[in-house]
Amino acid sequence: MSADDFIVTPWHVEGDIDYDKLIKKFGTERISSELLGRIRTVVGEDHFMLRRGIFFSHREMNRILDDYQKGQKFFLYTGRGPSGHTHIGHLVPWVFSKWLQEKFDTNMYFQLTDDEKFFSKSNLTLEETNKFAYENALDFIALGFKSDKTKIIINTKNIQTLYPIAAQVAKKINFSNTKATFGFTNETNIGMIFYTALQSAPCFIENKPVLIPLGVDQDPHFRLTRDIAPKIGKPKPALIHNIMIPSLEGPGGKMSASDNNGTIYTTDSPNVVKKKINKHAFSGGQPDIEQHRKIGGNPDIDVAYQYLRIFFEPDDNKLKAIYEDYKSGKLLSGELKAILIEKINDFLSIHQEKREKAKDKIHEFLLENK
Ligand code: TRP
Repeated sequence: MSADDFIVTPWHVEGDIDYDKLIKKFGTERISSELLGRIRTVVGEDHFMLRRGIFFSHREMNRILDDYQKGQKFFLYTGRGPSGHTHIGHLVPWVFSKWLQEKFDTNMYFQLTDDEKFFSKSNLTLEETNKFAYENALDFIALGFKSDKTKIIINTKNIQTLYPIAAQVAKKINFSNTKATFGFTNETNIGMIFYTALQSAPCFIENKPVLIPLGVDQDPHFRLTRDIAPKIGKPKPALIHNIMIPSLEGPGGKMSASDNNGTIYTTDSPNVVKKKINKHAFSGGQPDIEQHRKIGGNPDIDVAYQYLRIFFEPDDNKLKAIYEDYKSGKLLSGELKAILIEKINDFLSIHQEKREKAKDKIHEFLLENK
């Protein structure tokens, strides 16, 4: 563990993240109240994920807004490493991207990096990561993106389109840059070493500036991309970062697709959701009811409350009431969990239906190589 007691890299997140320190370390900017106000002015509203600091940091969001106000369009890009089924934490940047796409009327690209997860995970075959890419694509489509403005890139399928761009990028990144950024060693496979070039490629797929909503763990790739962009005559990608979504079992690590108990998958049944939350969701409540009524719970460390704040309760007034009732001891841990279980299951019952329907439309979304 680092001296900071937390680690955030694209392949490893651990510890209790101090986001102020992380902003300093990565050299990003916190989303200020001015910037929030500006977004509100430009699009006419804000999003609860912005208001609540779920999206907390950025790189050059102001430039994107400047250009937009001058009539210069941008496009959106985000992605997912298909190492397993989609879990609810993954949906955070996707739902936010959908909102941005609607508000700014932009094109959107979604990259599924089956190659990356094959390189980085010793227990997965390329066939498996490729299968998960198609599974994850269904969750993305289920969120309601429109196929005329949204394209899904699967690295092994779209390599013909990506490679000429990746080659431009790769020539400008040298080994000591990636090594310093990611801590690679002589034992690191060369797929990993080249990989940043492939994650960079969609940044330059259109001849416009790009805005990337993403988990902050992915920032290091785009730090490299931003460094080399001027060298290949392209605009630097702008970024807007979300916090890491805690695992059910509590703070100190993001929700990981490979940790079954700590994770709620979009494919989980209502009963499984109920069991996982009741059994595994880290509680900020007191050990017994009597004490809880007296002292109250701590919503700030309670995972059920955090999931409501991050995703499942967009209504600020309702969230505030839950916060206060939990803190005062009026609302018990089990009751708080019951609220979350109902919210998740309501969401998933609709999502799972849309996910089924997405199977018939997936071909409309997959990028065709030219
Ligand atoms: N590397 C990312 C992951 O493991 C996937 C990804 C590819 C991505 N392109 C991206 C994430 C762009 C955010 C933005 O999940």
